[in-house]
Amino acid sequence: MMWKRSPSRLAQLTAPSLALGIAFAATFVATELLLGLVLARISPGEAVGLFHLIAVLAVALVWGWAAAVVFRRRADTSGTPGRVPDLEAELAHITLRSTDVTSAMGAAAERVAQALGLPFVAFELDMVPSDRHRSAIPLRGGATLLVPSDLPRRSIQRIREKVVPSLEELLHATRAREAVDRSVAISRGDFEMFFDLSSDLLCIGGLDGFYKRVNPAFEKALGYTSREMLEHPFLDFVHPADRPRTVEVLDDLTRGIPVAQFEIRLVCKDGSARWIEWNTVPARDSLYAAGRDVTERRDARRTIEASHAELSTLAEQQAALRRVATLIAHGATTTDVCACVAAELARTLGSRSTGLYHFTPDGTSTLVTSHTEPVDGKSISARVFGTGHAARIDKAQNSEVGVPIVVDGNLWGSAVVGSTGPDPLPPDTEARVGDFTDLLATAIANAQAHTQLTASRARIVAAADDARHRLERDLHDGAQQRLVSLGLALRSAEASADSEPAALKEQISDIVAGLNDVSADLREISRGIHPAIRSKGGLGPALKALARRSAIPVDLDLHLGPRVPESTEVAAYYVAAEALTNAAKHARASEVHLQARTAGTHLELSVRDDGTGGADPAKGSGLTGIRDRVEALGGQLEIISRAGSGTALRAELPIDSP
Ligand SMILES: Nc1ncnc2c1ncn2[C@@H]1O[C@H](COP(=O)(O)OP(=O)(O)O)[C@@H](O)[C@H]1O
Ligand SMILES: [Mg+2]
Repeated sequence: MMWKRSPSRLAQLTAPSLALGIAFAATFVATELLLGLVLARISPGEAVGLFHLIAVLAVALVWGWAAAVVFRRRADTSGTPGRVPDLEAELAHITLRSTDVTSAMGAAAERVAQALGLPFVAFELDMVPSDRHRSAIPLRGGATLLVPSDLPRRSIQRIREKVVPSLEELLHATRAREAVDRSVAISRGDFEMFFDLSSDLLCIGGLDGFYKRVNPAFEKALGYTSREMLEHPFLDFVHPADRPRTVEVLDDLTRGIPVAQFEIRLVCKDGSARWIEWNTVPARDSLYAAGRDVTERRDARRTIEASHAELSTLAEQQAALRRVATLIAHGATTTDVCACVAAELARTLGSRSTGLYHFTPDGTSTLVTSHTEPVDGKSISARVFGTGHAARIDKAQNSEVGVPIVVDGNLWGSAVVGSTGPDPLPPDTEARVGDFTDLLATAIANAQAHTQLTASRARIVAAADDARHRLERDLHDGAQQRLVSLGLALRSAEASADSEPAALKEQISDIVAGLNDVSADLREISRGIHPAIRSKGGLGPALKALARRSAIPVDLDLHLGPRVPESTEVAAYYVAAEALTNAAKHARASEVHLQARTAGTHLELSVRDDGTGGADPAKGSGLTGIRDRVEALGGQLEIISRAGSGTALRAELPIDSP
């Protein structure tokens, strides 16, 4: 480099002064004159001439040399391209290399001193005055360049023009860089702080499949030291079941696609697994990932889901039980309730098969819907039959649970449910089936009670009818016959007493008439107690006789088939008799329509008047009595009687009843 090769020349950046040149020339001429005078005294005139000639030549040579030097230096110091820019380049280089202003300016001072061939050049980073040894050159930005005080003013001027701007640039750039470095260091410190403090897992991974850096949260969460984490490929820490998914995600990342919120399990040092939710961004040759331990969150979510499922199962079960209970409340038959229970059990338990079995004393269990299965000691139903308690069979292919149905303390049957797959039925199955069997047992008990009640009502009504029948016969065969024979006896007495006074004859005649009246009354009474005409002629003639005797005209409409059971006929007769009596007694009706017909399994009877309406069973005993009679047979009685719209009674009686 030019600066290194000719330092002395650079020490004089200015051309030699004119005064120095003139002084130099004057000294030279004076010396020449002096020598010429000495020579003229000691040598001939030709020698002096020769010397003079040589001297003139020498002066010319010196001047020529001086001129060449001057021009050369002018060229050097007027900014020959390459020199000062070289220094600038070096200073720029120093800026890049230095980390702080002090060292940068120290290095720059050294370089400037070396380049200018000065004994020293110094920098102060504030304003410093000149002193005896150092001339101060102020720099922009509050610094000072100090150079030797004996440096010529022109040299100082040249330094100001050529070197100071570069140094000021250097100072500015170095200070800027120092500020940038400082803030970078601060942010780096901040980053390190967060990296270390974060409870989330923060890491940088390489595309080689290894971690480059992990934060301390890894050790806390997984138990491995950072070193252990860095030593193994990160897939080694992934739970085997989650590796295929992780590989897919890594594929995306290596293709530059960021992946957010993917959850995988990492295996801890103690062998347990933690669920980590990752957000990962690929950048340059690295993967930047932040992971959060979501194990607790997932556990909580699972617990909530489980309790939701439990709640909805419970709600489903309650709804199913409600449906069964509603059916029971509507008086459905045991068979219908059983079918409903079986269907609801299958639905709520997701069961493949359900069955309700009724145990009979002879040791068979009847599937309530279709077939009879012997209690052979192997089936689940047999176990319930044998023990009276819930039983369970868990087989490889399926499992079965049987729960007893206990009605009024007696083992009535069992409810059996089977699983749809190899998984055993849940442990609460017995309890859940038990809820249904309790309800079913209540329904069966109710149905049994209802049947017994109906039967006993029928028995009471039949017994009452029998008593009335007997009474009618007794009256007819006993009292009536005796009255008749007494009447006849009196009649003959009357005939044999011709000669007696007419008064006695008249008296006896009155008694006979009275006896006849009593006899007629008794006949009427006995007909009311038990209509003999019905037992003889059937319902049709009996209804016709009623119509005939009615005080209000009756429009009869009869479509009766062959004779129906006696109890049905009797009930129909009493319904018609009560309705006609009420119409005459309470309705102030002008006409009554009486209709009776047999239809399939029922006898239908309706009596409709056009009277005042407003019949109220609570106000008397007649309507309640016929309702009891109808319902005791399993029939139905409907009374429609709005005030002002007449009254209609409609009875539907089974004709297959005993
Ligand atoms: N066809 C009818 N028209 C108007 N009111 C009636 C009729 N049938 C019954 N009632 C009213 O309903 C009440 C109850 O009738 P019922 O039970 O037959 O008792 P009872 O005839 O012995 O009074 C009667 O007292 C009467 O007020
Ligand atoms: Mg009445």
